[in-house]
Amino acid sequence: MTIQNELQTTINAMVQKGKGILAADESSPTIAKRFKAIDVESTEENRRYYRSLILSTPNLGDFISGVILFEETLTQQNDDGIMLPELCTQQGIVPGIKVDAGKLALPNAPGDEITEGLDGLALRLEKYKKQGARFAKWRCVYHISDTTPSQVAIEANAEVLARYAAICQSQGIVPIVEPEVLIDGNHSLSDCVEVSEAVFHEVFHALHRHNVVLEHIVLKPNMMVPGKESAHKATPEEVAIQTIKVLRRTVPAAVPSINFLSGGLTPEKATAYLNAMNQMSQQPWELTFSYGRALQEPALKAWQGNSANSHNTQAALFKRAELNGAARYGKYSEKMEHE
Ligand code: 13P
Repeated sequence: MTIQNELQTTINAMVQKGKGILAADESSPTIAKRFKAIDVESTEENRRYYRSLILSTPNLGDFISGVILFEETLTQQNDDGIMLPELCTQQGIVPGIKVDAGKLALPNAPGDEITEGLDGLALRLEKYKKQGARFAKWRCVYHISDTTPSQVAIEANAEVLARYAAICQSQGIVPIVEPEVLIDGNHSLSDCVEVSEAVFHEVFHALHRHNVVLEHIVLKPNMMVPGKESAHKATPEEVAIQTIKVLRRTVPAAVPSINFLSGGLTPEKATAYLNAMNQMSQQPWELTFSYGRALQEPALKAWQGNSANSHNTQAALFKRAELNGAARYGKYSEKMEHE
């Protein structure tokens, strides 16, 4: 199979009507934070147990087409000795891998950050591919404040996202390109619109410069929302209109799918906002989800680190996957939360 055919096959499996992606790629410090909230210690065994539990949710593949894993998970097995990437494949779910190495302060740009992990990436991808991964994820973040993000941060992060995407495609791995304008702060909806437009524009400029094939990427952006501490609360319709406006201005129609991150939105809001977008007129790309917290939060709460809660944990995850599946068609309503 040529590399282009291989990439297309993976895209076809990742982008399916009524489905989205589960982000289960929390880094070690992040999963420790999530576990701490339910008073569970982040040991390798607890992480293996929890992740094999959620990945074996019956019929998860009805609404989830791909799952982003953390490096450690690629090498773990469930209690029956099945490798976790293989467990995903058995569910009809494509396994993927977070490949960035996290972020650091960007020198000479106070308040801005840059994502690391390009050195040796091609070699790492070769290994991850042997372990079952078919796509990858790389996240860059942008803080909104009076002085950030600076132009240098916008350009530097676009450049690393494009280099990452080009390296992935050269290895037959589909890149998920994730520029996240953070929700932290008291900025307005229009601040988020202005920054996101500049960020996405620069990302696609860099992708073009690096000859990345847009048909073979997935974009994972933030939605247009006011800052978490802003007094203004946007309606789902406002979020949908502003998000679609920015995406139409910046994302070429060749991109097959836009899978939003949830970025600290409540599970209900993340679903309602996606639903409102899919109720608008037809767009050139699929509009779907790649949620971490908005899919897993209720499952983690149900689990509490206790195997007696296994059924409720899987049921909580399945319910959010199903509701987001409905939002893919614009057919979600608030009352479905209580059914
Ligand atoms: P959230 O949906 O929790 O933002 O996580 C998605 C993700 O993969 C962040 O990199």
